[in-house]
Amino acid sequence: MTMDMGNNDRILLKAMLAYPDKAWGINDLLESTGWKDQVHVAGSGQSLSELGLVTISEDQSRFISLDSEGKRALENGLLEERIWNWYLDSDENKRNMEGLFEAGFQRNEAGPGIGLLKAIGMRLESGKLVAEDEKAIESIISERRDFISKISNLRIEDSKLSAQLIDHFSGRKSLISIEVQVSRTWSLTEEGASIDRGLLSHVEVIGEVTTELLQGDSWRGAKFKPFDVNAPTVTPTGGRPHPMQALIERIRKIFLEMGFSEIEGNFVQSAGWNMDALYIPQSHPARTMQDTFYLAEPEKVEVEDEYLDLWSRVHEHGHDTGSRGWGRRFDKEEAQRGLLRTHTTVNTIRHIAENPDKASRVFGIGRVFRQETIDRTHLPEFHQIEGIIHEENANLPMLISTLKTFYSKMGYDDVRVRPAYFPYTEPSVEVDILWRGEWLELGGAGIFRPEVTEPLGTEWPVCAWGMGLERLAMLILGLDDIRQLYQPDLEKLGQMPIL
Ligand code: PHE
Repeated sequence: MTMDMGNNDRILLKAMLAYPDKAWGINDLLESTGWKDQVHVAGSGQSLSELGLVTISEDQSRFISLDSEGKRALENGLLEERIWNWYLDSDENKRNMEGLFEAGFQRNEAGPGIGLLKAIGMRLESGKLVAEDEKAIESIISERRDFISKISNLRIEDSKLSAQLIDHFSGRKSLISIEVQVSRTWSLTEEGASIDRGLLSHVEVIGEVTTELLQGDSWRGAKFKPFDVNAPTVTPTGGRPHPMQALIERIRKIFLEMGFSEIEGNFVQSAGWNMDALYIPQSHPARTMQDTFYLAEPEKVEVEDEYLDLWSRVHEHGHDTGSRGWGRRFDKEEAQRGLLRTHTTVNTIRHIAENPDKASRVFGIGRVFRQETIDRTHLPEFHQIEGIIHEENANLPMLISTLKTFYSKMGYDDVRVRPAYFPYTEPSVEVDILWRGEWLELGGAGIFRPEVTEPLGTEWPVCAWGMGLERLAMLILGLDDIRQLYQPDLEKLGQMPIL
């Protein structure tokens, strides 16, 4: 007979053969094998049981302790008990809902409390509480009270408590918690107890491949224990970058790889650079207080007269861009109001103003601010992935293929654009990607209008885009609520895919 037994299996079997009739607990086995780790006992015990040499029996014990509500009940009494005491102390004409509220019971206590009392013999008769058999109610309540105080701050095995009351309390919210503990015992089967001991020393199956083993010769001709790749294991935990940070790094890498340089800018901007430079009319609804965080400090962010003059000419009558402008008076004070940038397009436009006659491909990933009510898909602070291609022959197909390349490097091959409107681009498009059969909007793009570029001193077309980062993160991480990205829940964060 040959058996697929590993070294540890052999050690365990030998240890058990010292007392062949014994039912072994985990501590006995650790002691007689000299092992430190229960995992070895469990693993070898399992192999021996698969060989029919050992039986494993499992014994479950349940331990009861007080949960949050139970602890409160320990201090203040159970809800039904408190209402019962109130009932006993009240005049007959006060034994109704109003009386309960007057006595300080909350709405969320009164309903469930009356429900509990009705279940043990109280009745509600035309709005009044009546109890026929006060003794019976009293005794049930005192049993329950005794149960709670018996557990008190302890952890009690279920056999020491009334099964009926455990059942009752486990149906009530947060009163008790039940912990199940499994203990195993190992015993030899008849076959195990009568195994030929000589056999044990012959069998050599290698369970663990170590450096020492490989350096020696003993592995030659040896038998190896097969790995069970489906065996459950502990998920390793440790430090890792926040998923948003990892995503930003990945996007940065992709744009750098595509030949773009990175630019940055401040959160605090003037309305002029954030909006007027982009030919957003001063009366545009997105400029209102509801959408934009205007600042009290600094209330004013100064803009060079040169730009204020240019923008006012373009906005009022189109200057010499071929446009007729918005035809309204331009307010230079308005253009110098301080605000938190509402989009990162403020960075790219500034870059063009500073480098009007240098061709460039730049991108930036940055935080923007809008007065949004927080919900499943909105946050008042979020990030945009912004970029431009500023060169003599920039055009729409170039823009679209750049965005397609980017998303395909992120793992999304189906990208489409639809016509859209932004005050600063013409044509304007919205960019969607296909995700699980659905088109999802990820951002806007277009070619900057001459009203935007010409005053800054460039005649070249500029491809521009601004994409949402959080939306993309939700897709990649499989989230359906944007808030999950920023909750400091280490366990959830640890489980998010590594990018
Ligand atoms: N700034 C736009 C937004 O915040 C996106 C955009 C950028 C559109 C550049 C066109 C060109 O949604």
